[in-house]
Amino acid sequence: MWCRVLLLTALCASQALGYGYKTYWYTTQVDHFSFANNDVFEMKYLVNDTWWNGNGGPIFFYAGNEGDIELFLENTGFMFDIAPEFSALIVFAEHRYYGQSLPYPNSSLSDPSKAGYLTSEQALADYADLLTYMRATLPGAGDSPVIAFGGSYGGMLAAWFRVKYPHVVQGAIASSAPILQFTDITPCQAFSKVVTQTFAKDSEECPRVIRKSWDAIDRLFETQEGLDWLSSAWRLCKPLNGSELADFRMWLSDMYSNYAMIDYPYPANFLSPLPAFPVKVACSYLHDDHGDDDKSLLTNLYDIINLYFNSTGGVDCIDSSSQGTDSLGDDGWYFQACTEMIMPMCNDGINDMFYPSPWNLTEYTADCKRRYGAPSRPLMAPLIYGGINLTASSNIVFANGLLDPWSSGGVMRSLSDTLVSVIIPNGAHHLDLRASDPADPPDVIEARRVERDFIGVWIAQYTKTADNNQFNAAKRHW
Ligand SMILES: *[C@@H]1O[C@H](CO)[C@@H](O)[C@H](O)[C@H]1NC(C)=O
Ligand SMILES: *[C@@H]1O[C@H](CO)[C@@H](O)[C@H](O)[C@H]1NC(C)=O
Ligand SMILES: *[C@@H]1O[C@H](CO)[C@@H](O)[C@H](O)[C@H]1NC(C)=O
Ligand SMILES: *[C@@H]1O[C@H](CO)[C@@H](O)[C@H](O)[C@H]1NC(C)=O
Ligand SMILES: *[C@@H]1O[C@H](CO)[C@@H](O)[C@H](O)[C@H]1NC(C)=O
Ligand SMILES: *[C@@H]1O[C@H](CO)[C@@H](O)[C@H](O)[C@H]1NC(C)=O
Repeated sequence: MWCRVLLLTALCASQALGYGYKTYWYTTQVDHFSFANNDVFEMKYLVNDTWWNGNGGPIFFYAGNEGDIELFLENTGFMFDIAPEFSALIVFAEHRYYGQSLPYPNSSLSDPSKAGYLTSEQALADYADLLTYMRATLPGAGDSPVIAFGGSYGGMLAAWFRVKYPHVVQGAIASSAPILQFTDITPCQAFSKVVTQTFAKDSEECPRVIRKSWDAIDRLFETQEGLDWLSSAWRLCKPLNGSELADFRMWLSDMYSNYAMIDYPYPANFLSPLPAFPVKVACSYLHDDHGDDDKSLLTNLYDIINLYFNSTGGVDCIDSSSQGTDSLGDDGWYFQACTEMIMPMCNDGINDMFYPSPWNLTEYTADCKRRYGAPSRPLMAPLIYGGINLTASSNIVFANGLLDPWSSGGVMRSLSDTLVSVIIPNGAHHLDLRASDPADPPDVIEARRVERDFIGVWIAQYTKTADNNQFNAAKRHW
């Protein structure tokens, strides 16, 4: 069985506000860390200089994650909302191996000699190289402080960017960044528990019905009659066959997790427009009065599948092999999840609402090896970035919404005065980075205020330090 790997990013819940930008390309090394490979590739980045004070004004830098960079730009309205007050230059850089920033466009991810440069360390070096180039060549940017932003895996990158490159990045806003979702740091069940809590928020009945549905599905999978019934009752595009049970469970589980990730306070355009707080709406459909009648229970459960995949009413059948997140770089992310970004996940079906499945690293890495031929290094990210041992660093805001399952691996308490955790009780996946909206709950408005305040402090600190450095340099000269 291919073990469960979740995409981190709730990108398709697009606000699609149509921001303006110009597209550029920057040539950088495929391998920043050895002298064995001198290949270069072109990395895409997007720039908006409308509000920039080209005399040392700050650079707001989005550390691109696993997808086309344009999608992140469209879904990170916060940077556009606050750029005017800071007179900031906006830069979005595309992560290598995603979108059009492909070091080896014609080779497959199953060739480790070509795919092996897909690491967070290489991506951060790309970003440092790009910013160093921009500061050196863009008139007026030489003294510009850089504030990194990112959501989800991009948030992990933003935080680690500050940790590793404090001379390039003066501060970071790391939103819904599960930097602790790694082996020996966070229990594997934490994620499933948060999904379950989000579903239990409005009604205890909801996770109860979902929990019961697994046995009902198992029973239907036992007979051809059952499979035919389910395929027809759930209007599946392709009839189910008995060997697909594990994949089918995973498809449903991913849907529930996605529901929790995009539990936004306003209608968001996922596959089709979902209503505000979609988990609450979904749960309002479920009722726990089916007794032993599997078909009645699963007919009821279909209402929330229909809401997720067919909210416009224009869908003829349900594709049970896809979450419809095609614009995200699934393949690249699966490669990363197999090599460096190994995030243990498990369920027990008791303290969460999922089908019980233990975490088995041996099995997981064996699957990975079959797929990509590359080794798995579960302890690499903690080794290189330090896990939670970050107090030697500074100037990072970690924001986490409690509705968001990825908060399970987030930094949920402040580690120092300048490594600050901001909790957004009514927030889903990186809600704070999205454009402001009249339906925003007060807690996300407050989180954004805290983030703005810190950005102001970091910029002022840097400007002062830069002045002092010049002063000291001048003194030495005397
Ligand atoms: C920057 O974004 C704003 C808001 O979308 C837009 O009005 C402006 O034209 C953009 N500037 C550039 C240079 O694309
Ligand atoms: C990839 O393949 C395309 C089409 O075959 C070709 O035009 C292009 O030059 C190749 N690119 C590289 C980097 O090999
Ligand atoms: C059932 O699905 C599996 C995997 O998709 C496939 O290998 C198998 O041939 C299918 N069996 C039937 C009877 O269609
Ligand atoms: C989608 O919704 C429409 C309108 O409610 C309905 O007629 C149609 O059968 C639904 N499609 C599926 C696959 O359930
Ligand atoms: C993990 O999976 C391997 C290979 O499938 C198996 O041999 C082993 O018993 C499993 N370990 C546990 C703890 O279930
Ligand atoms: C963090 O520090 C603790 C205490 O020294 C140590 O046990 C742990 O292994 C460290 N974690 C990492 C990822 O280095």
